[in-house]
Amino acid sequence: MPGWLRDAIFYEIYPQSFKDTNSDGIGDLEGIIEKLDYVKSLGCNALWINPCFDSPFKDAGYDVRDYKKVAPRYGTNEDLVRLFEEAHNRHIHVLLDLVPGHTSEEHEWFLESKKAERNEYSDRYVWTKAAFQGIGGHPYIGGEADRDGCYMLNFFKCQPALNYGFGKVTEDWQMSPDDPACIATREAMKDVMRFWLDKGCDGFRVDMADSLVKEDDENKSATGAIWKNIREMLDTEYPEAAIISEWSNPYQSLKNGFHADFYLDHHGNGYNTLLRDNETPGGDHSFLKKDGNGDIMRFLNDYLPKYDATKDYGYISFITCNHDTPRPRRTLGYDELKLAYALFLTLPGVPFIYYGDEIGMRYLDIPTKEGGYHRTGTRTPMQWDNSKNHGFSNASADKLYLPLDPSEDAPTVEDQLKDPSSLLNTVKELTKLRHEHAALQADAEFEVIYAEQDEFPFVFRRGDLIIGINPSEKKATASLPKNGMKTIYSIGDVELKDASLHMQPQSFVVLK
Ligand code: NOJ
Ligand code: CA
Repeated sequence: MPGWLRDAIFYEIYPQSFKDTNSDGIGDLEGIIEKLDYVKSLGCNALWINPCFDSPFKDAGYDVRDYKKVAPRYGTNEDLVRLFEEAHNRHIHVLLDLVPGHTSEEHEWFLESKKAERNEYSDRYVWTKAAFQGIGGHPYIGGEADRDGCYMLNFFKCQPALNYGFGKVTEDWQMSPDDPACIATREAMKDVMRFWLDKGCDGFRVDMADSLVKEDDENKSATGAIWKNIREMLDTEYPEAAIISEWSNPYQSLKNGFHADFYLDHHGNGYNTLLRDNETPGGDHSFLKKDGNGDIMRFLNDYLPKYDATKDYGYISFITCNHDTPRPRRTLGYDELKLAYALFLTLPGVPFIYYGDEIGMRYLDIPTKEGGYHRTGTRTPMQWDNSKNHGFSNASADKLYLPLDPSEDAPTVEDQLKDPSSLLNTVKELTKLRHEHAALQADAEFEVIYAEQDEFPFVFRRGDLIIGINPSEKKATASLPKNGMKTIYSIGDVELKDASLHMQPQSFVVLK
């Protein structure tokens, strides 16, 4: 386990929308370099950058045309190496985004694979043996290649599935995961990883990490075996490199080699009940929504078994949001967001802040861009200040990658820095607190002290600290295991009388 993850607080950057330095309206690597001091000042010491590789951008870069080349619109490979160096000078680690399940339909491997004559890449993707033969249940494309066959899609039409084999081979065109062609796909992905690790990157967020071996991959054991193999390579050659999975199943991901796994917003799971439980009829019952009348047990019943079963293997990552998820500001106000981030920054595991969430940027209702659809509203330009285009770019407004929040009160870094009680300054206090206390970091002990169905507050222990949170509009009280604790940090009003904790509506406390 790379030791640096223990105290890591990540900042996710969608490079298109962070900072444009050459006035073409699109964010770039130079812009990220320019803002590294800002990232540092926020208390984040690690970055995840969404795919920044050559791509036709039909899925915002998740359709990679060349894994080893920075997309010209973002800069050059040299710029990315400089970004690694500048980040490291500031003790910031950098994860790139690895997309192992598919490439762009314009990737050279695929252009070769489509050819009628057999070649090195013929089996790099999943193909049937006839253009008139479908691929049981999976989306596929036929009739586009000289090759007589259909190919499987892994996501959108632009993303053909790389071939890692099938858990159970039932058709003559399917291969077993240990077929040399499937091993070659895995080794090609290792080659991509080595390429960037040798240049100074610190690891990868792994896209759709569970999607490699197709059915029936029971319990994802064949996909897991590939990741175990890749983890062995990392342990031997790059022991400080981290891999973090888009999987949201820690039983499978962490036990198969991932250092951390995202707790994604899946309807009804524990994470979803905390802040985005608004798809069920009857209102928003998120625990962190002040009038949600939420239930912390819905979170704990899902989270605790996962945490207990996997804590010796790796970390579960709480996120404020990501580039696929509605921004939390969509449903929560600033005061609710402060408590939400306070919770995510004091729970176990490795937390992630999505750019702009630290100032409460809004989710915008805007037309789709680069395959974003409903996700586009979460991907708008960072609002730095009150100058032209909120400091994102000098281009004319119609040239911007996406529109900015048009509201009079669009949050900006500049405004929030001036206000000691702003969301941004609260985030900074919280990250500082986490860095100062080993008990708040990824692997420190976690124990539930008070959690009752439909009741507030939620109280838990991390090492020698006790944390209480009352996101509701009602006062709430709980008993502590001991007397004489002292408040070391609080949001809102909290009172301690001997061993009883009295929390006013919308409050948070850390006791020692
Ligand atoms: C998950 C990524 O987060 C998403 O943005 C992308 O569209 C799909 N995987 C396909 O790569
Ligand atoms: Ca630019």
